[in-house]
Amino acid sequence: MPSLQDVTRGRVLFGGDYNPEQWPEEVWHDDVRLMKQARVTTVTLGVFSWAKLEPRRGAREFGWLDRVMDLMHEHGIGVVLATPTSSPPPWLGRLHPETLPRDEDGHVEHWGSRQHFAHSSAVYRRCAAAITEDLAARYAHHPALTMWHINNEYCTYDYGDEATNAFRRWLRERYGDLSTLNSAWGADFWGQVYDTWEGVLPPRRTHYTKNPAQVLDFKRFTSDALMECYLAEHDIVRAHTPHLPVTTNFMPLWQGQDGWKWAAQEDVVSVDLYPDPKDAGAGQYAALVQDLTRSQAGGDPWMLMEQAAEPVNWRGVNHPKPAGLNRLWTWQAVARGADAVCYFQWRQSRQGAEKFHSGMLSHAGEDGRTFREVRQLGAELAAVGPEVAGAPVPAEIAVLHDWESWWAGQQEGRPSSLLDHAELLRAWHRALWEANLPADFAHPAHDLSAYRMVVVPHLYALTDTAIENLTACVRAGGTVVCGFFTGVADGDDRVRPGGIDARLRALFGIRTLHEWWPLDADERVDCDGFTGTLWSEELAADDEAVTVAAYRGGELDGLPAVLRRGRAWYVSTLPEPDALRDLLRRAATEAGVRPPPADLPRGVEAVRRGGLLFLLHHGRDEVTVPLPGRHHDLLTGETVDGAIALGRYAVAVLREDAHPAGSLRVRGHQPPPLE
Ligand code: GLA
Repeated sequence: MPSLQDVTRGRVLFGGDYNPEQWPEEVWHDDVRLMKQARVTTVTLGVFSWAKLEPRRGAREFGWLDRVMDLMHEHGIGVVLATPTSSPPPWLGRLHPETLPRDEDGHVEHWGSRQHFAHSSAVYRRCAAAITEDLAARYAHHPALTMWHINNEYCTYDYGDEATNAFRRWLRERYGDLSTLNSAWGADFWGQVYDTWEGVLPPRRTHYTKNPAQVLDFKRFTSDALMECYLAEHDIVRAHTPHLPVTTNFMPLWQGQDGWKWAAQEDVVSVDLYPDPKDAGAGQYAALVQDLTRSQAGGDPWMLMEQAAEPVNWRGVNHPKPAGLNRLWTWQAVARGADAVCYFQWRQSRQGAEKFHSGMLSHAGEDGRTFREVRQLGAELAAVGPEVAGAPVPAEIAVLHDWESWWAGQQEGRPSSLLDHAELLRAWHRALWEANLPADFAHPAHDLSAYRMVVVPHLYALTDTAIENLTACVRAGGTVVCGFFTGVADGDDRVRPGGIDARLRALFGIRTLHEWWPLDADERVDCDGFTGTLWSEELAADDEAVTVAAYRGGELDGLPAVLRRGRAWYVSTLPEPDALRDLLRRAATEAGVRPPPADLPRGVEAVRRGGLLFLLHHGRDEVTVPLPGRHHDLLTGETVDGAIALGRYAVAVLREDAHPAGSLRVRGHQPPPLE
């Protein structure tokens, strides 16, 4: 299968979405001049160009795109060509209203924005296939073409009639007959039993709480229906260009697609990432998304398809990036496995909904700070990228995450509406980030044997296979650290007898779960040595369990807050950040996880990729990092002897002088051989 490495050829790609159709042609020449200055190597074309390519039904206007493709080729810039199917032209919705999606109230989402396509509309699919076919046929052999980008950020839910029929077909395939569906949906509750498939609906507006299994299946179905659209276009371009990789860009930590299933269908996994410069936790959040994307790519290099050079325009208040932050976050992505770092978009628009969203070339032009920083970054990536491109990011810890569990767990009618799957992932990943413990993500049923430690922040629903995978992990000598409200339901969202699955209770040494005790937003619970937030549990330990920390005071006084049975740990509250970090560090040390570089000042992130050590300083005050031995900083060309001073948003890409690449030692710890 073609891969990102076929395109990068040993470089880290740099570039962005390029929308030349918004500009007169003379501007295109200025664009390439400045792209060359910025060492741009790749652009993504055509993402929203359907109306320009097919201005009337069946018409084709490729001339402008021919000229852009040729121009890119002339200047040695590769093109990731998008199928324009995320924004159908106005004529399609006008002539075929059934191509427009409907929300749960039955309201139509009209053209005039984007993403207004009904995924199960036969006409939409036919028209999308036709333009894709013609694009692929026309540019298959164009020398600028390097990769295909299908659609853009698939995310549209549709509750309309064709989607309803498609949902019924999907359900028939899953359940075979209505009585199996009624059983899976627990339809006896509130008398929801179906007597005919025609009665089955998407979870449209209801008076009161919806059937949770129906909602869960609708999310599964929507992810699959969108994936059918993706695969239809994928297959068309693949037939024309079997040698070129195909991608579609994910949104970061986005609920709407089963990211494991989808990633398996991509040659290159790509993501769009827009941390908020004002968010003190933005660096950790970005690291999470980067680790997740790398893991979706099975550890292979991945592509940062979009980031913002400066502010976005879709938050309430849109903050620019202080000088240096764009560089820091870009190198962070490279450190965590990206071999392509790109932006939305090359030139900031003057019109339309995103005219206040930054570009690599902002309204301030080539003398503006944004472009000057972009130019510097492009030069650095051109120089240092080849030293790192293609190299793996080793990790001995896996964090388990599953979209289906997210869909099942984050619904109405739960013990606490404050429980947020993504926020819990963030809290646990942040604890690992602060301990500088590198981690991959994994699906709970993946082969986990390569990891010394498995961390489960929160997986409300677990299948039998997943539960057996976890127990096998501990049997094989691995460590499992598991967060609360995990293993509560099976794959149909049916609560497991006893409230937590019996196999998991045995694993962790829980005799009985008496009750969940969720906490209010401002509530804290004292535990030995720390306070907990969000959640607590009334648990009785069995004789095999050791209480690591007990609740102190209140109703749960003396009951276990954290308990373990050998290498299996269970954490029944959300410890405050430092406590969670220390707990994970302790478990990792016991598990034999390679110790992270020691003595790092707070806010300094250390990541190993291949034979290099990246130091990324997320703070503003100068700090000194002790670094025994002599290192060579590839960015400055300087030798680092014993310690390195890092100023605001500093980045260092270090190779240890005394040792060849691949055997870098930090503070005397020899990394184990890579598996
Ligand atoms: C998404 C889209 C882009 C652009 C950016 C703005 O990532 O893919 O087209 O709208 O958001 O941040």
